[in-house]
Amino acid sequence: GKRHRVCVVGSGNWGTTIAKVVAENVGEHADIFEPEVQMWVFEEEYHLPSDSKHYDAHSELSKKPQKLTDLINHFHENVKYLPGIPIPATVIANPDIAAAVKDATILVFNLPHQFIGKTCEQLHGNIVPYARGISCIKGLAVSDRGCELFSESIGQKLNIYCGALSGANIANEVAQEKFSETTVAYDPPPMDSKHPTPAGTPGASPHQSQLDLTKLNNANPGSTKGKKRKLQPLPSDYPPLNHATMKKLFHRPYFHVHLTSDVAGVSLGGALKNIVALAAGFVDGLGWGDNAKAAVMRVGILEEVKFGKTFFSDSPTSSPVRTETFTEESCGVADLITSCSGGRNFRCARMSVAEKIPIEEIEKRELNGQKLQGTSTAYEVNAFLKKEGKEKEFPLFTAVYNILEGKNRPEEIPRLIERADEEE
Ligand code: NAD
Ligand code: 13P
Repeated sequence: GKRHRVCVVGSGNWGTTIAKVVAENVGEHADIFEPEVQMWVFEEEYHLPSDSKHYDAHSELSKKPQKLTDLINHFHENVKYLPGIPIPATVIANPDIAAAVKDATILVFNLPHQFIGKTCEQLHGNIVPYARGISCIKGLAVSDRGCELFSESIGQKLNIYCGALSGANIANEVAQEKFSETTVAYDPPPMDSKHPTPAGTPGASPHQSQLDLTKLNNANPGSTKGKKRKLQPLPSDYPPLNHATMKKLFHRPYFHVHLTSDVAGVSLGGALKNIVALAAGFVDGLGWGDNAKAAVMRVGILEEVKFGKTFFSDSPTSSPVRTETFTEESCGVADLITSCSGGRNFRCARMSVAEKIPIEEIEKRELNGQKLQGTSTAYEVNAFLKKEGKEKEFPLFTAVYNILEGKNRPEEIPRLIERADEEE
């Protein structure tokens, strides 16, 4: 039979780390996966810094800027976004997105969320119709249509099924193989026998029918509710793509995977904690200490759950978001804790307040091209909450937006999140 071919779409700090994890695993499961992992790289020129262990004054590669893909494939290391971490030689950095995804049955989406729309446009028509996706993106797709999960918007754009991976996973720690846990949500819909695959469709098998993706359309405001889409079945000569296969793809001794079906809960935890991490950074930047940070985190996790329950639970067809996903899984409370301890959003927000410098400047100064997700997510979530008339019901998310906008000061956070007196 055939084996699954994996492409990681994206190659930043986390994208490269996940490519490493996946490459280690496909090497150990040669019966299921092809041994090579393609990694699409947004090409750029990079000049090796003189303190890089690969720097060699006599080498052409060090004398002038080189293509990042050439450096990655030569040194088997992403010298810009994950320096110091060897990656398996079976990870192939590819600047040509169509070539990278060619014949891939598993697409792992891992890039800053602001770039996913354009990337999906480039992918359109270049993927096999029966591909499946996993989104490792922490963000939300907010548009005129409402607020969508990236798993959903990727699925819609490419007409594939897409699940989600998210957890308490600071990339550099995972890359160094320090222990962490993650949550993978994978919940493809059941076969719809009323819609047989048209004869001659690539991948069609007379015994398989297309899958009805209608249930994936969240009933959140403005979503594509009710719009029918049909999923191409995986040809029967491939190993099945189920929870067991997903576990084999991502689980490592240092990276424990727990599978769930709550795609919305997993995606929302990863996206919304970035806003909370900014708030934690703001109060830490004021020098207020751990109690203040804990208060912000307490309010933050409650707003995460409330956001999920308010906007992602009233669909008659999709699985409603589960509170337990936030309280019991790595993608919920654990990600909140790690992100408010050492994440980039937390660290940059802290420096921004402590040094009184706009966070965008800190991001450029500190992150060497890596991207904060919390700032844009705070704006996107606020635009959505405004449209829904619900800003007041999410006082912490609203406070973070107003602080970024200069309409409130970090010192006002206690007043902004103060609870109303309870009725006697
Ligand atoms: P990153 O912050 O390292 O961003 C840099 C990447 O963006 C590079 O690969 C760069 O090539 C790419 N890029 C820049 N401009 C681009 C463009 N115009 N089009 C396409 N790509 C472009 O990225 P990351 O850390 O890999 O984050 C990816 C996702 O994973 C984010 O949603 C993030 O929240 C999430 N995440 C990150 C971490 C972490 O610790 N870094 C952990 C878990 C999840
Ligand atoms: P930052 O993007 O704030 O670094 O968060 C990383 C993360 O998602 C940890 O799980």
